[in-house]
Amino acid sequence: MELIFATNNANKLEEVQAIVGERFIIKSLADIGCTDDIPETGVTFEENAQQKTDFLVNKYGLYCFGDDSGLEIDALGKEPGVFSARYSGTRDMEKNIDLVLEKLGDNANRVANFRTVISLYLNEQQHFFEGTIEGRIITERRGSGGFGYDPIFIPNGYSQTFAEMTPAEKNQISHRAIAVQKLTDFLRERYS
Ligand code: IMP
Repeated sequence: MELIFATNNANKLEEVQAIVGERFIIKSLADIGCTDDIPETGVTFEENAQQKTDFLVNKYGLYCFGDDSGLEIDALGKEPGVFSARYSGTRDMEKNIDLVLEKLGDNANRVANFRTVISLYLNEQQHFFEGTIEGRIITERRGSGGFGYDPIFIPNGYSQTFAEMTPAEKNQISHRAIAVQKLTDFLRERYS
């Protein structure tokens, strides 16, 4: 069975294909010739993820899934949340991290989490899968791996930031990995 993943991120695509195995062929937006800028105007991860699948279902009538993720910081009222990619008004992650550190200042409450929501549209039904990892925001950057807010996030139970971990270490515990595993378990249970 073919499933379209509403992304052109090759890393995400490979990661999901590796986990779901050969029972499903996962195709990207580029694979189906979709060059549209799919709207992401929701105020929740669920809305944004579903906007992606709604768009593909309406335009192509294909079974598909899409994800949306971000960083939620308790002391900032769960910001940057859906604005994670452009928190400072630009996609410049240096500026986005600076803004987070500036807003937090010396606040002792550094509690934060990353969250991913996956929307799946399959057999005329809508499903959601969620992955969350809890942790805290440190006061200055550490590490050079990963992407986004990884240099300032330490997951609970660890002493390294996501940016100090190897990709394999991060991918075992990340919010995205948890959500993808739930999607995969669901597909395996129903379709193998
Ligand atoms: P996306 O929905 O997965 O593209 O994520 C949106 C934004 O959230 C990214 O541009 C990053 O700023 C942030 N983000 C999501 N996942 C991660 C992660 O694993 N590490 C660091 N930042 C992340």
